[in-house]
Amino acid sequence: MSQTQNLNIVPFVSVENMMDLVLSIGVEKFLLELCAYVEEDFARWESFDKTPRIASHSHDGVIELMPTSDGKLYGFKYVNGHPKNTKSGRQTVTAFGVLADVDNGYPVLVTEMTILTALRTAATSAVAAKHLAPKGARTMAIIGNGAQSEFQAFAFKALLGVDHLRLYDIDPSATERCARNLESFGFRIDACRSAEEAVEGAQIVTTVTADKKNSTILSDNMVGPGIHINAVGGDCPGKTELHRDILLRSDIFVEFPPQTRIEGEIQQLPEDYPVQELWKVVAGTETGRRSETQITLFDSVGFATEDFSALRYVKDKLSADSRFQNLDLLADPDEPRDLFGMLMRHQARATQAVA
Ligand SMILES: NC(=O)c1ccc[n+]([C@@H]2O[C@H](COP(=O)([O-])OP(=O)(O)OC[C@H]3O[C@@H](n4cnc5c(N)ncnc54)[C@H](O)[C@@H]3O)[C@@H](O)[C@H]2O)c1
Repeated sequence: MSQTQNLNIVPFVSVENMMDLVLSIGVEKFLLELCAYVEEDFARWESFDKTPRIASHSHDGVIELMPTSDGKLYGFKYVNGHPKNTKSGRQTVTAFGVLADVDNGYPVLVTEMTILTALRTAATSAVAAKHLAPKGARTMAIIGNGAQSEFQAFAFKALLGVDHLRLYDIDPSATERCARNLESFGFRIDACRSAEEAVEGAQIVTTVTADKKNSTILSDNMVGPGIHINAVGGDCPGKTELHRDILLRSDIFVEFPPQTRIEGEIQQLPEDYPVQELWKVVAGTETGRRSETQITLFDSVGFATEDFSALRYVKDKLSADSRFQNLDLLADPDEPRDLFGMLMRHQARATQAVA
């Protein structure tokens, strides 16, 4: 990154830069490469600082900070979740993030993460499904056809070969838009009139709805043996998607139990209810799917290491790419302790320029 030699300058990836980067690599290739970073970081789980994200809840939503570090790099994401936002022309989820050098604390990347979150969430879902979904699964129901939905479809296509989608949303215009966005990418797409209809014949069911309440997107009778459920939308206290009885019939896989017990579907279960940690399956120390009839559930809430993987991936990609802006982010006086002197010299230069 030759443009970033100055210590005060930090590469900034804007939304436009991110879109250019994703499109120049290709959505599916980007997702495949990102899956590899996510898997790599799950496999070295024990090298990360881990804490449940810091959530500030309000009546209509949540604002969260998601930090982690592997001892060399430190990353955090700012992210919101406001399901009512789409009614006023805003996104339900927006985000930005920072990656920094642990040795000196200086940021090495500032980036938009709204698009990147959709990509990393989809990549994580696909990585989980690689270990948990029935072999050869090609048909996926997607219930909730909003901002995240197409990214989920692409990640499952890229990593698992899913090419048949059954879409449902309470808002038929969301399903129409999702189907239209995906129609030229080799999917067979069925627009369904109910969640019950969407799950018919699907080996994988992704729930990715937004509502700030305990919903029943899937009821127990809708889940047959052998299904893999990728539950993405339940990610806050009081915000779930699955009937509790489904949880009792499933083998449940989670990211970081102390966070998922607060935010995930398993908030409906006792605090000591047994769950498996996805990282152990990725690392090969525990088994994912064991039988054709087992119901597997990835109770996704989104964890900081996944954002760290995404930040790390984008940083690596920028080395060979100039699609970023130089952000004058860090005060950098000639003599490090002369911060006030730098301010005074700036004033003198400004006065001279006026004179
Ligand atoms: N687990 C994670 O890592 C992660 C990451 C990002 C987002 N999320 C969550 O995923 C969800 C979806 O995010 P988004 O950005 O796509 O939101 P969005 O608002 O763009 O889309 C949500 C869609 O769900 C639909 N919906 C709401 N209730 C429904 C119901 N009962 N049945 C069917 N459809 C219904 C809405 O009509 C809307 O089209 C949110 O709850 C968000 O918090 C989770």
